[in-house]
Amino acid sequence: MRYENIVVLTGAGVSADSGVRTFRDNGGLWEEHRVEDVATPEAFTRDPELVQRFYNLRRAQLATIEPNPAHTALARLQGEHAGQVTIITQNVDNLHERGGARDVLHMHGELGKVRCVRCDAVHTWAEDCTQQTACPGCGEVPALRPHIVWFGEMPFYMDEIARRLRDCDLFISVGTSGNVYPAAGFIAEVRSAGYAHTIEVNLEPSAGVSYFAECRHGRAGELVPKLVHELLTE
Ligand code: APR
Repeated sequence: MRYENIVVLTGAGVSADSGVRTFRDNGGLWEEHRVEDVATPEAFTRDPELVQRFYNLRRAQLATIEPNPAHTALARLQGEHAGQVTIITQNVDNLHERGGARDVLHMHGELGKVRCVRCDAVHTWAEDCTQQTACPGCGEVPALRPHIVWFGEMPFYMDEIARRLRDCDLFISVGTSGNVYPAAGFIAEVRSAGYAHTIEVNLEPSAGVSYFAECRHGRAGELVPKLVHELLTE
């Protein structure tokens, strides 16, 4: 393959073929809730039980969904490419990992983890979490919140991501509408470094489509395996 360091950015569209609903094609509602009511620090201060219940349901749903061919193809790319393949995801599900991927940078956090607001410890979490659940680390109550980056909070891994974007020679964006920063700005960062090839894979042209050198429009579950096959055999 002519590429060495590949960065793949994924969004809700990569999990759409697994039956996960995307955000912006649902009238601005996320599972019948306004984003401001469940996915902001203010919402958690105002009604922590509602926010906990919302994420408990999302966490429980993980058991009902399976990775699709887009997830497994990206894992195959990671496994078979001689260079580095970094997966940066805006998704909080665990379908990349369950599809076989490793080193996934969950910039918006993970449903399968909770964080203690008292001692800052992050715990892997499969159960429900309430305001009465004690932190397994420090024992405080209430202490645990979803390990999710809410609107208005700083995404995770930004320094690491900046390095990977600067060093990549192929940048692939899969299933993201290009509306939410900072991820929507990654394509501009890659382009300003000046040498990477850039490919968009999305159901429809994203908000940033004009910045990409190459675009493939259709379902990720079909197009990503095809792209990975091309990359690994060229
Ligand atoms: N294959 C490929 N793309 C698809 C598919 C599919 N089967 N189905 C939908 N899409 C595309 C949609 O056309 C849309 O452009 O995926 C994109 C999903 O966009 P959004 O719903 O805006 O999701 P995303 O870009 O991941 O949102 C970013 O915003 O709400 C916050 O924190 C949340 O991580 C999320 C962030």
